Amino acid sequence: MTDKNTGAVGLEVSGLSKSYGETEVLHDISFQVEPGEVFVIMGPSGSGKSVLLKHLIGLEQPTAGEVLIDGRAVTDPATLRTIHAALVFQAGALFNSMSVYDNLALYPREHRILPEKGIRDRIGEILRILSLENAAERFPAELSGGMRKRVAIARALVMEPQIIFYDEPTSELDPIMAATISEIIACLKEQIDVTSIVVSHDRDLSLTIADRIAILMDGRLRVIATPDKLKATDDAAVADFLNPAIDLKNPRFKQRSA
Ligand SMILES: Nc1ncnc2c1ncn2[C@@H]1O[C@H](COP(=O)(O)OP(=O)(O)O)[C@@H](O)[C@H]1O
Ligand SMILES: [Mg+2]
Repeated sequence: MTDKNTGAVGLEVSGLSKSYGETEVLHDISFQVEPGEVFVIMGPSGSGKSVLLKHLIGLEQPTAGEVLIDGRAVTDPATLRTIHAALVFQAGALFNSMSVYDNLALYPREHRILPEKGIRDRIGEILRILSLENAAERFPAELSGGMRKRVAIARALVMEPQIIFYDEPTSELDPIMAATISEIIACLKEQIDVTSIVVSHDRDLSLTIADRIAILMDGRLRVIATPDKLKATDDAAVADFLNPAIDLKNPRFKQRSA
């Protein structure tokens, strides 16, 4: 087995629907993400973003349709054994009893991917990319929320992923830290050959980092477009979501197409 990143991989979703009991949560969703692309999935709360993400990483079985990574079904266990995929969880999920360095070394040590010296070199490089050199010997509880988030990204990068999934990478961060995370995701695109799929309801983040944005509403794909095209949308529901007009004297109530 090689630990080399053999290049960013594409992802394809076709005709994906998901029902829980009688309730359809995702309806006939199809899109393609190109290798190396930063693809952001946005949508109001409850629109189905998290459920969609679970399907993209093979944690849920669709009621209809399929998800392919690099042309292979993500529900086939062999797919994620051969493709390096990494997930940056919302809360970070770091081990509090271990230093940052040991958190990062956990996966490569367990899978004997590299000798200790190789692990040290790789972690050193990743800490540098994320400006975390001074955090290596510290413990997660001693770090700010923004640093913990960066460590979570660092841990994903240690796996030399070909595709990274981020679930709400800027939630719980103040605006300055959120902007830093945006910069990091955008900068990784230049430094590492990886495809990034980001689920977020953070408009600033999405419009800054995305090559393309998909907007999910009520379990349906409303539009896929570049940030510039989206800012100029003539779809009132999309414009409302991206740029909510707050006019207290004349409140507008959004209609849900149930
Ligand atoms: N396991 C489940 N069983 C039943 N309904 C679910 C389940 N998971 C999510 N849902 C429903 O699917 C819809 C979309 O949820 P979710 O994907 O979490 O929304 P978002 O992440 O966009 O806020 C919600 O109405 C939610 O209640
Ligand atoms: Mg969610």
